[in-house]
Amino acid sequence: MDIPAEAKKLLEANRRTTDGHQYTVPSIEHYPYQWLWDSCFHAIILAQYEPEAARAELQSLLSRQFDDGMVPHIIYWQPGPLHFFRWGVEGTSSLTQPPMIAYAAWEIHRRASEQGFLESIYEQLLAYYKFLVEKRDPQGEHLAGIINPDESGEDNSPRFDEPLSAPPDIGYLAHHNLREKLVDENTANNFDVKWLSEHGTFWVKDVLFNTVLVENLRALSHIASILEHEEGEQFANRYAELIASAMRKKLFDGRAFRSVYGIEDRPLRANTWVKFAPLFAGLYSDEEARRLVKEELFDETTFWSSFGMRTTSKREAAYRAEGFADHFSWRGPVWMVPHWFVYHGLQRYGFTDEAARIREKCVALIEHSGFRECFNPETGEGEGAQGFTWGALILDMNP
Ligand code: GLC
Repeated sequence: MDIPAEAKKLLEANRRTTDGHQYTVPSIEHYPYQWLWDSCFHAIILAQYEPEAARAELQSLLSRQFDDGMVPHIIYWQPGPLHFFRWGVEGTSSLTQPPMIAYAAWEIHRRASEQGFLESIYEQLLAYYKFLVEKRDPQGEHLAGIINPDESGEDNSPRFDEPLSAPPDIGYLAHHNLREKLVDENTANNFDVKWLSEHGTFWVKDVLFNTVLVENLRALSHIASILEHEEGEQFANRYAELIASAMRKKLFDGRAFRSVYGIEDRPLRANTWVKFAPLFAGLYSDEEARRLVKEELFDETTFWSSFGMRTTSKREAAYRAEGFADHFSWRGPVWMVPHWFVYHGLQRYGFTDEAARIREKCVALIEHSGFRECFNPETGEGEGAQGFTWGALILDMNP
């Protein structure tokens, strides 16, 4: 299979335009809307060969920004099975997702700089990151909190079972219902994050979300610097450092980073791939990274499988290699986005052979099962949505 050609074809087939807004849907049947971090990944890929489309993707995404700066995680551009993604109000969800927008914007600029593009989205970017570091941190701890697992991007990861009181063998729909109930709770409390952090069911400082935030604040600082916006540059640098050191203080257990929940910052104990995510932002020392990669990433009894990195350790009670009927699962299956984060993290530390192993697995998965949402780590079989765009990230994993 000519993977790059197929990947480009897929992104084109999934492209939509509504009211002049151009965007790409992650999967025509399963996900007929625009998603926040998906669009950032699309933009990162398109930046390489179709920068116009990459810019349009981010501009559409930012076109539904809330007054308080939040960028919603779904924009329902067209009517569709709304009942299934009942996360929102008036055409958008009322949650956000890992904030990859500045990184994607910087990537577009890096590959195909165009006078005016960064300028045109800068104030909106700044407002979004200010929202995250201010409104999502009501206790001033320099960590951004999330109010629903969907904001982590890993909707039913067992990482979040404790605050949700979900049993390890919970099914897809039962889990979905728990998250919908959370949206009801959030809505009833007017999305008042201070209240939710103190009294709500779900208040998590997630490792992936904060890792992404740090790396994106750095990208924002580069953008501000190009635009000679000194105040924005200082803001972004300052918060990137504050969050990185708060992560070390509050999310590091001496060996690896783990997410915490509740106002008391209780550790979330489920062993998931998220411990590898901070490699992406260089948050481990060289020594810590070496140990993590050598002892944990390639341990076949936990994360490593013949088809790549499991998202949940095989030793967890919640581990389940299969998806749920034709639905996704973050409770074990291999996904392309975690592979992409870890690939870049490994490259950053100079683990080029190890990064190449991840890339090989991505290629093998696509050859074996095509562009699927996720994959069974024990058999390589595709699971969840078909014609799913994340496999195209292989174009951004170049040795
Ligand atoms: C699933 C994934 C989420 C993604 C969405 C659209 O809900 O868990 O991360 O953004 O699908 O692809």
